[in-house]
Amino acid sequence: MADPARSLWRLTSPVIDTDGDLPARADVVVIGAGLAGLTTAVLLSRSGRRVVVLEARDPGAVATGNTTAKLSLLQGQVMSQLREHAGQEALEAYVAANRAAQEWVRAELSDDPDALDRRDALTYATTPEGDRAVDQEAGALASVGLDVDLLGPGQDAGLPYAVTSALRMRDQWQIHPMRLLARLAAEVRERSGALLSGCRVRGADVEAEDVLVRTTRGTVHARSVVVASGSPVIDRAAFFARLKPSRSLVAAYRVPGEIPRGMYVSVDPETRSLRTARDGAGRELLLVGGSGFTPGRERDTDRLLRELDAWTTAAFPGAERATWWAAQDYRTVTRVPFAGPMPGSDGRIHAATGFNKWGMTNAVAAAMTIAGDIVGEPTPWAEALRSPDLGVRDGVDLVAANASVAANLVTGVVRAVRPEPGEPAEGEGRVTRDGIHPIAEARVGGEMCRVSAVCTHMGGILEWNRQEQSWDCPLHGSRFSPDGDVLEGPAVEDLEPR
Ligand SMILES: Cc1cc2nc3c(=O)[nH]c(=O)nc-3n(C[C@H](O)[C@H](O)[C@H](O)COP(=O)(O)OP(=O)(O)OC[C@H]3O[C@@H](n4cnc5c(N)ncnc54)[C@H](O)[C@@H]3O)c2cc1C
Ligand code: FES
Repeated sequence: MADPARSLWRLTSPVIDTDGDLPARADVVVIGAGLAGLTTAVLLSRSGRRVVVLEARDPGAVATGNTTAKLSLLQGQVMSQLREHAGQEALEAYVAANRAAQEWVRAELSDDPDALDRRDALTYATTPEGDRAVDQEAGALASVGLDVDLLGPGQDAGLPYAVTSALRMRDQWQIHPMRLLARLAAEVRERSGALLSGCRVRGADVEAEDVLVRTTRGTVHARSVVVASGSPVIDRAAFFARLKPSRSLVAAYRVPGEIPRGMYVSVDPETRSLRTARDGAGRELLLVGGSGFTPGRERDTDRLLRELDAWTTAAFPGAERATWWAAQDYRTVTRVPFAGPMPGSDGRIHAATGFNKWGMTNAVAAAMTIAGDIVGEPTPWAEALRSPDLGVRDGVDLVAANASVAANLVTGVVRAVRPEPGEPAEGEGRVTRDGIHPIAEARVGGEMCRVSAVCTHMGGILEWNRQEQSWDCPLHGSRFSPDGDVLEGPAVEDLEPR
């Protein structure tokens, strides 16, 4: 069986203390203790609000503790794609928001040398498609006055292999995301807030005065609610249908000799993301990210880690993997993150999502936007990023997305109709049938687990993720453990045991 996933950040995280009892009321309830939720909670606490943060698992358990944590304004192809889908005005607002967020995080961590390193960021290509993407990105960056050096074929990008073109932005940052979360969590509690782990929100009702938040540990009343759960778990605007989940692997390697100092992202058809990080003993490792896939749509997930290892040992001979992990993030069609009041909630439920794998700045910018809205001091970029034509362009892309979702659902059901004899081998899972009900069977650690194979969000048929030993939904990215516990995504209910 594959080694279990263990992120370097979570292995080297400070302890994060949490509270025991669910308070009966709060000024603001924040759902999710990732970077978006805890930053929102800190900003509102500093404005005198009593904030309760409810976390289904533990702080940083999902994207923030499993990221690559580059705090950068050079973001692969994001600026050119955002300009293409949302326009120049939105791009300008996006850059202003990201700049403010980057500065905020840098200031928060400025006294912690273990959490913050200044580095050059590079976006590079090794293929003609990549060169075109580099050119387009250079154009978008120039249009918003972001300075970069353009490197051509023979120029040194600091990598042990040849690149055909690259953009270099000086003086960006890489961070230790769990050290940041630990600091934010401590401040929320010091300012009379509360942070509960193992408290899953199941729903919320907007009442005359308050919002009533229903959780696995009771109910809490609040004036406002902020949904910072990745894909929003309270969803009055069908966000799930507008968000595309994308999951990637990250691995940390011991590399003989010099490790490249920069933070790199390739814009070739196959994305690679590189940076350094330190292990618990202070030794420098190379992080390599890539092998992106849509959760629930990749049959052969253990191939992805083998490919990442093969690429790394070819590029860095002698590299040895120390640990690996995986995470997913969500993007909107326009690439503009969403931060604002949720339609249909009377302005009392706010959502933060769609950070497109650049949440170290975007989650913080979203937190600033939402905290600004709640205290009545809106950020300068908020309105320009709430694009009124989002729906028109979304409509076009949604047809394609939903057609492929429907195809997956049908394939899943048809497969489930054929029961398979025997039992799955160790580490394997399969969908079979009990009467008319699709069953997800997996054998993990010698134990057979049998649960419903129907996603509790909206009925998708789950797919076994062999590398991570989880059941993943091809529709909107919910994931479940072999025995049915929700791991992440828009689902709020566990799978039924069978
Ligand atoms: C592989 C990868 C690499 C990345 N690299 C970078 C990078 O280099 N730079 C960068 O800027 N960004 C990067 N990102 C993006 C960044 O990590 C994310 O955008 C960011 O961490 C998202 O933060 P969040 O708070 O929205 O989500 P999360 O950290 O996922 O927090 C959401 C929390 O909500 C909780 N939750 C969910 N449902 C419920 C519920 N019902 N009740 C209560 N709690 C609930 C979850 O358990 C979770 O802890 C990367 C992302 C990935 C996937
Ligand atoms: S995540 Fe929506 S149906 Fe599974």
